[in-house]
Amino acid sequence: MENVILVTGGAGFIGSNFILHRMERDPDSIVNLDKLTYAGNLRSLEAIAHDQRYEFVRGDIADRELVRSLLDRRRPRAVVHFAAESHVDRSIRGPDDFIHTNIDGTFALLEEVRAYWGNLDRQEQAAFRFLHVSTDEVFGSLGPGDPAFSETTPYAPNSPYAASKAASDHLVRAYHHTYGLPVLTTNCSNNYGPLQFPEKLIPLMILNAREGKPLPVYGDGQNVRDWLYVEDHCEAIAIVLATGVSGETYNIGGWNEKRNIEIVEIVCDLVDEIAGRRGKSRRDLITFVKDRPGHDRRYAMNASKIERELGWRPRETFESGIRKTVRWYLENDSWVRDVTSGTYRQWIETQYSS
Ligand code: NAD
Ligand code: TYD
Repeated sequence: MENVILVTGGAGFIGSNFILHRMERDPDSIVNLDKLTYAGNLRSLEAIAHDQRYEFVRGDIADRELVRSLLDRRRPRAVVHFAAESHVDRSIRGPDDFIHTNIDGTFALLEEVRAYWGNLDRQEQAAFRFLHVSTDEVFGSLGPGDPAFSETTPYAPNSPYAASKAASDHLVRAYHHTYGLPVLTTNCSNNYGPLQFPEKLIPLMILNAREGKPLPVYGDGQNVRDWLYVEDHCEAIAIVLATGVSGETYNIGGWNEKRNIEIVEIVCDLVDEIAGRRGKSRRDLITFVKDRPGHDRRYAMNASKIERELGWRPRETFESGIRKTVRWYLENDSWVRDVTSGTYRQWIETQYSS
């Protein structure tokens, strides 16, 4: 076993932030296995692309031969599994890719990792970790007065995305219980920050606001999410990987519940301030549109277990994190232009045509 971590989905939003974060702070080598779907972008990793400790492999986690040969060749001490289809609205329009990657892909990866792990010596087996990155959406939707999700909240996924992630969480759990594979599962709330594909709420709103386009708020805008700055999430994952107890799950959240409309208003005000106002406030661009089918009303995370047991708490406040994020999108236009290619525009047209 080498000092190598296999990261899946490392060209996506959180995966690329995680790789950049780890390579700056840790001597481990990283192998990034990513299929490069519309959500994967190698530009995000330009800064470390030529680092000796980094290798990129383009491929599907469901390709068992590829995964097998990669594990045999690089002999990682851990796998950090980010690869997924991650956008709820896309899962509503077409769930197939979500079943392929999130369920079949995770199963294929687990099978190959189990075989690899089974051939390690005892000491290596004990040190090995498979860290599965999941979401708060597996717990379903909360009412206004309900307590936040904890690690023991029963699963009640509502969208095809959430259901596919829940299925993958169950598989990971079963591989620990049945085969003893040393797994860790993290369930995280909504992330925001640099390098997020602009189909998700915050980057979409920043870019539309900059361009003076309508800001489409679903339904009444009163849905609540708990927002976490992506770098805080990356740090939490690193801590769970280093010190988490095998077989345990950890909720990760920002202690920061906000209604969607509040988020959009904050974004408008920051874009006005940083990019400058051209007459009217960008709040005037807010447009209420048809609600998402089955739209979960509220997510909230109780992240006290990871704080109590592993000593992690988010560093960033929402005020500081959102300011950095808005500034990043406004200053990184060439990244934005690169990812907002034809495929992106096609998606936006399908999603918002009505
Ligand atoms: P993303 O959509 O930005 O990136 C996903 C990455 O996975 C892309 O680089 C894509 O090319 C790759 N990928 C997709 N299918 C693949 C396959 N079959 N084989 C190999 N690579 C494949 O996602 P993200 O926002 O970075 O999320 C990463 C993980 O974190 C996901 O598992 C997601 O469920 C979870 N998560 C995300 C959030 C959030 O707010 N973004 C919150 C909680 C949990
Ligand atoms: P999103 O970023 O898609 O994350 P998730 O659905 O995984 O929580 O959406 C965050 C919230 O913002 C969610 O309640 C849906 C809402 N939303 C809009 O109101 N308008 C939009 O254009 C988008 C993409 C999301």
